[in-house]
Amino acid sequence: MIVGLGTGSTASLAIEEMGKLFQKGKLKDVVGVGMSYQSKVLARQFGVKTADLNDVNTIDFAFDGADEVDSSMNLIKGGGAAHTMTKVVDTTAKQCVIIVDQSKIVLELGQTFPVPVEVLPQAISPVLRRLVALGGVPEIRTALRKDGPVITDHGNMVVDVRFPEGIKDPGSLERDINMIPGVLENGLFVGVADSVLVATQDGEDISVV
Ligand code: A5P
Repeated sequence: MIVGLGTGSTASLAIEEMGKLFQKGKLKDVVGVGMSYQSKVLARQFGVKTADLNDVNTIDFAFDGADEVDSSMNLIKGGGAAHTMTKVVDTTAKQCVIIVDQSKIVLELGQTFPVPVEVLPQAISPVLRRLVALGGVPEIRTALRKDGPVITDHGNMVVDVRFPEGIKDPGSLERDINMIPGVLENGLFVGVADSVLVATQDGEDISVV
């Protein structure tokens, strides 16, 4: 089975559990396709074989985290600046399962989390102007322990965009942002998740949205 390995703190817990099953021999014939440097390295620590997306013909199943989930299972992702690769792997997978806790469930996307946009560094100024024209308030992401912008696994910058008027139609906003020349991908994931597992606060109930 070829499994898309999600990224972020939640998906990392799932990779660890998968790794433990693999080490106990309960999981065999599995190859992981990491969605980030983090997920690849973690899987390898447990001895799970990994492959690049370009080296496999299909992905049977992918699991991943999210920053926000609405009632239609649309998502905002990219809190870890890895949304471009996660969108490629999640949409390639025959089945994509998103794992979150209750705090990620929102009535409308954009309520608590901005939309991350991966941008070619050479195009940052025109892209910022176009994002403002779409009604956004963009901010270049910086890191706590770095004097400068966050650089993605692909060498690009990330702009976090708030939409003060709300995101009424996530599907058209996702397309509009991606139409801006210089934008590689944005963190709106519309129609990507096949199911969402939600862990409740007491840690006992797991429900499927
Ligand atoms: C990676 O860029 C993200 O899309 C993560 O999947 C998302 O930020 C969820 O991360 P946590 O599980 O750490 O909240």
